[in-house]
Amino acid sequence: MCGIVGYVGNKNATQVLINALKKLEYRGYDSAGIAVLEGEDILVRKCKGALKFLEEKIANETIKSSMGIGHTRWATHGEPSDENSHPHTNMDGTISIVHNGIIENYAALKADLQNQGVVFKSQTDTEVIVHLIDKEYKQDKDIFQAVIRTLHKLEGSYALGVLCKDYPDRIICARKESPLVVGLGKGENFIASDVPALLEHTRDVYYLDEKEIAVLYIDHVSLFDFEGNKIVKQPSHVEWDMDAAEKGGYPHFMIKEINEQPKACKDTMRPRIIKDGNGKATDVYFEENSIDVSWKKTKRVVITACGTAYHAGIVAKYAFEKLARIKVDVDVASEFRYRDPILDKDDIFIVISQSGETVDTLSALRLAKKEGLKVIAITNCVGSTVSREADDVIYTLAGPEIAVASTKAYTTQVLCLLLLAIKAGKLRGTLSEEDVSKLLSELEEIPGKIEEILKEQEVIQKFASMQFNKEKVFFIGRQFDSATALESALKLKEVSYMHSEAFAAGELKHGPIALIDDKALVVAIASEPKLYEKIGSNMVEVKSRGATVLVITPDNSGAFDGKTDEIFKIPECSSTLVSLLTIIPAQLFAYYCAIQRGFDPDKPRNLAKSVTVE
Ligand code: M6R
Repeated sequence: MCGIVGYVGNKNATQVLINALKKLEYRGYDSAGIAVLEGEDILVRKCKGALKFLEEKIANETIKSSMGIGHTRWATHGEPSDENSHPHTNMDGTISIVHNGIIENYAALKADLQNQGVVFKSQTDTEVIVHLIDKEYKQDKDIFQAVIRTLHKLEGSYALGVLCKDYPDRIICARKESPLVVGLGKGENFIASDVPALLEHTRDVYYLDEKEIAVLYIDHVSLFDFEGNKIVKQPSHVEWDMDAAEKGGYPHFMIKEINEQPKACKDTMRPRIIKDGNGKATDVYFEENSIDVSWKKTKRVVITACGTAYHAGIVAKYAFEKLARIKVDVDVASEFRYRDPILDKDDIFIVISQSGETVDTLSALRLAKKEGLKVIAITNCVGSTVSREADDVIYTLAGPEIAVASTKAYTTQVLCLLLLAIKAGKLRGTLSEEDVSKLLSELEEIPGKIEEILKEQEVIQKFASMQFNKEKVFFIGRQFDSATALESALKLKEVSYMHSEAFAAGELKHGPIALIDDKALVVAIASEPKLYEKIGSNMVEVKSRGATVLVITPDNSGAFDGKTDEIFKIPECSSTLVSLLTIIPAQLFAYYCAIQRGFDPDKPRNLAKSVTVE
């Protein structure tokens, strides 16, 4: 997700930028850098690793500058390295930029620029922007117009800060789909990806809206639209304290990250959906994936992961079997590695790990590679051990996940796996072109549908306020919904410490139903119309034994009337993709139960974000 900052004023720009970046390290910490105007030149200092390494690097330098831009990186394109760190500069070092976002058409733009003789120094998508600005600038030496013309060539999301040696009095910035705030000081002005970076200096800000440009001078800020027309807007006054500001105004990272899921899903999905000239989604594209060919001949997919990532793997089992008709085995990594698994060279091996550092998952990956299998990793962390050791990597573009309880990493993992299953279905001929197009179009509607669910979070909050004292909670579901049930139960126990378990609904009467009494809450996930009757019977079975019953369902037909105490309605969606929706109310329920019970959901007891020991 990255953090960008900028400063024009009279103070020591390096210090202002570094202090501001410290407040944005939660947005990324793979590398950091600054570009400041020193005398007549742009001076760039950047390096891999956390901000403290940059501080150490420049500790003995005396940099005289009162204006500059800075960046803290969460890698998406190109591993964490000095070269891939921002700021990026044009070939003669006269223009420098910082960027937060993803340029979706960068590969085509890069190829075009390379054909014109531009030499790239990094593997980032960002670098194309600075070379494009440079090219445009050479036409008329008007940096503002050069930036505008460049913006019109970019597809994707961006918040940008641009510094040009020939314009030593200003910083130009622009926003499309990535946040950018302009801080208004007295005799100084600022930009930042988020408010915490500004609070030390000012509480008066412009929140840039979609497709707005700000030009910062020492004594004023001018605002424009993407056509270069001047616009006028009222500044806002920030009331948040620093703690609230770091969480974007949310009380906890967990609820912030739950609410970030529409954007995280959009970011993860969009660069991967190929469209034809009429805007019809036609195919899935994985830049990193070179093993298309294996999908045709493989007879089995083996997936290993831990915890939440393992549950994403279970969703994938249903998806691959349904869409691509491939047999899938899903294993908990800690079991897989010790049971002398039977593997075939033609198996496709997938590991899933948010952190990319989970020791059991890593060991499973190494075991598979030793057996000669190709490994695809799905991870959120570019440069992580898993990403380096796998043959192919599909990155979830969820941005850093800080809360221990995984939320946006899960939905983006599921999303990547669904995209992969669609791709596999297409390659294996089990999905027609029409099927592919329909599924992809439906996927594109998912972020909006998640937003619809999030708008109803008060309903879940109220339900949690009535149920948080339940002695035991059981989640039940069938097929795809059984995976959601597992993940829901994990989420709840993890942050609220309520005893919760998940069962395939059909298993209830083979044992678990003995636990049902009036101290139990049963949450049924019911998204598949052809199974409504079956799961409806399960609800009646537990309700008649005293349990309180909630159903999470897209049903509109009244299929569950009289069978439950509460119905939480989610938007309609094909059962193949619905796991991306059914989990959202369950995440909210876990969060609000934790709050009701007085626990900090961001720091659940006994748990660590990344489990790097056995
Ligand atoms: O980083 P990983 O995805 O490999 O982590 C795996 C599990 O430790 C993780 O998903 C854990 O279960 C979550 N904290 C649950 O919310």
